[in-house]
Amino acid sequence: MSDYFNLLDEWGPEKIVVVSDPDIGMQGVLVIDNTARGIGKGGTRMTPTVDVPEIARLARVMTWKWAAVDLFYGGAKAGIRFDPTSVDKERVLRSFVRKLRNEVPEEYVFGLDMGLTEVDAAIINDELGRGAAVGTPYELGGIPYDQLGVTGHGVAEVVDEIADQQNLQGSSVAVQGFGAVGHSVAKRLHELGYRVTAVSSVKGALANPDGLDIPALLQERAELGDDFVYNHPKLAIEPGQELFTQADIVVPAALQNVISTANVGDIKAKLVVEAANLPTDAGAQAALREKGVTVVPDFIANAGGVVSAAFAMEARFSPFRVDPTIILETVSTKLRANAITTLEQAQRSGETTHEAARRLAQERVRAAMDLRGRRVLQPSAV
Ligand SMILES: NC(=O)c1ccc[n+]([C@@H]2O[C@H](COP(=O)([O-])OP(=O)(O)OC[C@H]3O[C@@H](n4cnc5c(N)ncnc54)[C@H](O)[C@@H]3O)[C@@H](O)[C@H]2O)c1
Repeated sequence: MSDYFNLLDEWGPEKIVVVSDPDIGMQGVLVIDNTARGIGKGGTRMTPTVDVPEIARLARVMTWKWAAVDLFYGGAKAGIRFDPTSVDKERVLRSFVRKLRNEVPEEYVFGLDMGLTEVDAAIINDELGRGAAVGTPYELGGIPYDQLGVTGHGVAEVVDEIADQQNLQGSSVAVQGFGAVGHSVAKRLHELGYRVTAVSSVKGALANPDGLDIPALLQERAELGDDFVYNHPKLAIEPGQELFTQADIVVPAALQNVISTANVGDIKAKLVVEAANLPTDAGAQAALREKGVTVVPDFIANAGGVVSAAFAMEARFSPFRVDPTIILETVSTKLRANAITTLEQAQRSGETTHEAARRLAQERVRAAMDLRGRRVLQPSAV
């Protein structure tokens, strides 16, 4: 058996609750990492391989995410070790959440992550009562994040804010990926007057230095999904090259690790705004800083979903639907401000923007712990 004490450091976790029901094969864990800034909030995942260290690591990521966007929730995550395609899913889910009755919703609120759907969020609320989970279906008052395109909208607003600062407003943009996030980035940037010169899907990449017809591509994507690229053989470029065109701004919105030390020299853009999670590695981030390319880190630029989750938390006990316009406006205001703060901090400290954003988040958590009288012990003193 692993020694869970190895997971503890000066930040947390404050609580690890491991539960099981051997009769039905349910095993699960809730990790509440750090609640100095608010109650624990982070998704709930169900996979056959979930383990305690994985959930603890993800809970810690949430601690920094909430602090980085300056929203008052703490880091937490839950995991159920079970096959989400099994016919017994509901029984296992109900059993898992029942065992966490003492923690939910005062210390933790369930949310969606791998293996859980909106219907599961509804089941959790049915089992534990209103307010135990967010991410419920629209019919039950939930917020349709993907339909609203909140994450992509936020990324595009960040592009616009930093482009304004760097005299790149209305310039050319390449977007990798045209899924839930990528297509809404392209849509919003087009609305804001940018020239989207390259886009891609897993099926291929398209480029036109004069600007692509984004409304037409959005329509084709709605009809054909990723295959929309096949409609434009004359605009096709080598897959992957959309990141390295002459566009002034690049938005990776598909995969992780696409910009590394191996190819960072080929980047011609002046601004990289990370919509995907982890699209650059630390070596590439340092190299981009050296080259004078501004990078807005993933957890700053793609935090639209986190901001929406905060709205969903607020809405749990309200009879009114949240107005989507208010969500989009708040995402815009918050993410624009966070991006500016991160860049200023990096400028002052000489760090990469990733390092600066991480440190800012840590300083905010540390300040909250200090103010609550929770002394942060240095690792050597633990
Ligand atoms: N959905 C969200 O709200 C959200 C929030 C934060 C971060 N993210 C991150 O954004 C990224 C994209 O997520 P999504 O929800 O849009 O996923 P998605 O599955 O809806 O879309 C992925 C897109 O990437 C394309 N793609 C896949 N492989 C590619 C390749 N080799 N080259 C070019 N395009 C390729 C797919 O064709 C598709 O268009 C992921 O890193 C995800 O973790 C998503």
